[in-house]
Parts: sequence; C-alpha cells; structure tokens
Amino acid sequence: MLILGIESSCDETAAAVVENGFHIRSSVIASQVGLHRKYGGVVPELAAREHVMSIGPIVRQACGEAGVRYGDFDAIAVTYGPGLVGSLLAGISYAKAMSMSLGTPLVAVNHIEGHIYAAIMERLADSTKESSTPSLPALALVVSGGHTSLFLVLRHSSGTGFQYQLIGRTRDDAAGEAYDKVAKMLGLGYPGGPIIDRLAPFGNPKAVPFTKTKISDQSLDFSFSGIKTAVLRYVQKSSIRPLDPRTHHDEKDVPPIMIDLAASFQRTVVDILVRSLQRGMLEYHPKSILLSGGVAANSELRSAVQNFCAEHKLEAYIPPPRLTTDNAAMIAAAGHDHFQRQELADLNLNAEASLQLAKKIQ
Ligand code: KG4
Ligand code: ZN
Repeated sequence: MLILGIESSCDETAAAVVENGFHIRSSVIASQVGLHRKYGGVVPELAAREHVMSIGPIVRQACGEAGVRYGDFDAIAVTYGPGLVGSLLAGISYAKAMSMSLGTPLVAVNHIEGHIYAAIMERLADSTKESSTPSLPALALVVSGGHTSLFLVLRHSSGTGFQYQLIGRTRDDAAGEAYDKVAKMLGLGYPGGPIIDRLAPFGNPKAVPFTKTKISDQSLDFSFSGIKTAVLRYVQKSSIRPLDPRTHHDEKDVPPIMIDLAASFQRTVVDILVRSLQRGMLEYHPKSILLSGGVAANSELRSAVQNFCAEHKLEAYIPPPRLTTDNAAMIAAAGHDHFQRQELADLNLNAEASLQLAKKIQ
C-alpha cells in the first residue's frame, strides 16, 4: 500500500512516499529556517506564501525519488492541524486538488499523531527487532516548538492503530519554544534548540541552580515559562551581553558563563520532562515510552529517556533525529492506519489551527 504524505503545518514544506505504513521510499523536506531566521521566529504570512510556492516541486521531487507516478497512490494523507492556518491550507489545498483530479482517497492527519508515529516507524521497518510495535499501554511524550504533551496510548478498538488520552500538557510555553526564546535572549541564533544542544556538553549543568516550577496539584502538566524568566533574570543580574544572532556561534567564541547557563537550562528542561515520565509511569503503568517532536532530537533528552527506560524495564521508542522534526513520512505513516480503518476526508476538509488529538483527562 502506497501513501503520499503532505505536511505544511509550520515552516517546513514536506512530502514523502511511504509503503505499507513504515517503509520510507522518499522523504523530502524544504525548510524555511533561513527565511525566518532574521525575525527570530516564524512569520506566518511569509511561511504560507513560501509553502504555496514550494509544495508542487516538493511533491514532484518525492515522487521522483521514490520512482512512482502520481496515479500510483492508494491514498493521500495531509496534515490538517494543529498549526498555522495559512500554512496548513497550502498543503490541504494541494492534497485536495490531487485527490480530486486523480480520484485518490484523501486522509486527514493530526500533526501530533504524526509525531507519535515518527517514534515507531523505524522499528516497524526493522523486522529483525524482537518487538516492532510498542507494547501497550504506552506513554507518548511529544515535545516540539508548539507542543509539550504527554499521552496515554492504547490500542484502537478496531485493532488497527491507536487511541489516545491526554494526561499532561504545558500550561504556558512549549519546551522547544523555551529553547528558542532562551537562545534569542543570548543572541545565539534560531532555532535555539540545536544550538543550545551543541553548546551544553561544554558547560557545567550545575552552574546555575534553577528551581523547577511546581504545578500545585498532582497533575502531569508542565510549565516552562518560569525557567525562561529565571534565565532572563540571571542574564540581567550577571550583565551577560547577547551575541550577534546573525553569526554562527560555537563553544570557542561563546563566553563560558553563557555555556554554563545553556547547560544548566538544558539540564532543568530534561529533568522536568523525565520527572513527568516518572509520575506518568507510577500512575499508568505503561510498558513502553514513545518520545517524539523536534526536541526529541536533543542528545541529553534522548539519553535521559533511554536510561529511564532501561532502569524501569520499559521499551524505548526514540526516533532517529531526521524523523524528530517536522516531516511528511510520519504523516503518511499515521495516514496509513486511518486509511486502513477507512477514515476518509472529503473536499470539505479545512485547516484546524487548534486541533486536539485527545481530550484532557483529570
Ligand atoms: O517538531 P518541530 O520541528 O516543529 C513543531 O511542530 O513545533 O519542532 C521544532 C522545535 C524548535 O523549537 C527547535 O528549537 C526544537 O524543536 N529542536 C530542539 C533540537 N532540535 C530541534 N530542541 C532541543 N534540542 C535539539 N537538538
Ligand atoms: Zn511538529
């Protein structure tokens, strides 16, 4: 079964050809990072215009690399939310036009569910691994620039795919957003996550003792705005002068105090995330942990989650870095299971900026 995935929810235009739900025949991503860098964040109008211009060539390239024709697809899976409305509409309109002109079924995919599938795709493709699908229930931690959520993952009642319960979410900033804002404060560049990740191993993670925001009730919710404000206060108190964000910075030209700050910030974020897995484990007794979203590319978070799983004898599903940030292979993988369940969209499909994957349970 051949699925074309299309993703354009934020600042990456992506198309991928995926066979049988996990075998990636091609995955093409056009990043707009260069376009938005000088603004220090994504400018929605610019993003939408860029998607409109690149979606056609990107789909063509994905088909070319996979060696397939437009008429070969069993279904076209497209992200319809959450995300920026203008950006989403570029992908949705293109997918609808293809679906209508080719008579190919259309499948609507939630971007967050796509991230969850990214965590399991590679293991599904590697049939030599003992357990290729996660033992359920699982906890899925989705950490990206727009979202930080913890889901309980259960088997779908049809037997194909999953169903989800939202058990924790951020009450303010997403983890990736905190990374980006802290990097902006320090003038390190955009996006901040990969830059801080690169610098942190050269610093002392205990140099700045940040207190972790405590959510008063026993919920599994997160909060990252406290740590962001604490970084700002530290920068002001220590008279740290921001660098020039337009130049590339590495450990040789960044002042040691800033590297220590980056290391301490990262350690605190990782501790907050792992602590929530710990609490989720005690409450829901999962058998597997799925980690995904852009921040899942973070080296310290990856090894902390790996160690956590080893210590508690849980299966760890951590995607390769290329599948952590936005891509269309994960959208095709999620779309595959929806298509198998015959959950099809029609030409009335619209963008849903605040689409939820599941309702929050208390
Ligand atoms: O999933 P994604 O590509 O887009 C959203 O759906 O938001 O995630 C992008 C986020 C950005 O905030 C970026 O700074 C962060 O992921 N990120 C990282 C790393 N790589 C990307 N954060 C920490 N460490 C990284 N290595
Ligand atoms: Zn994403």
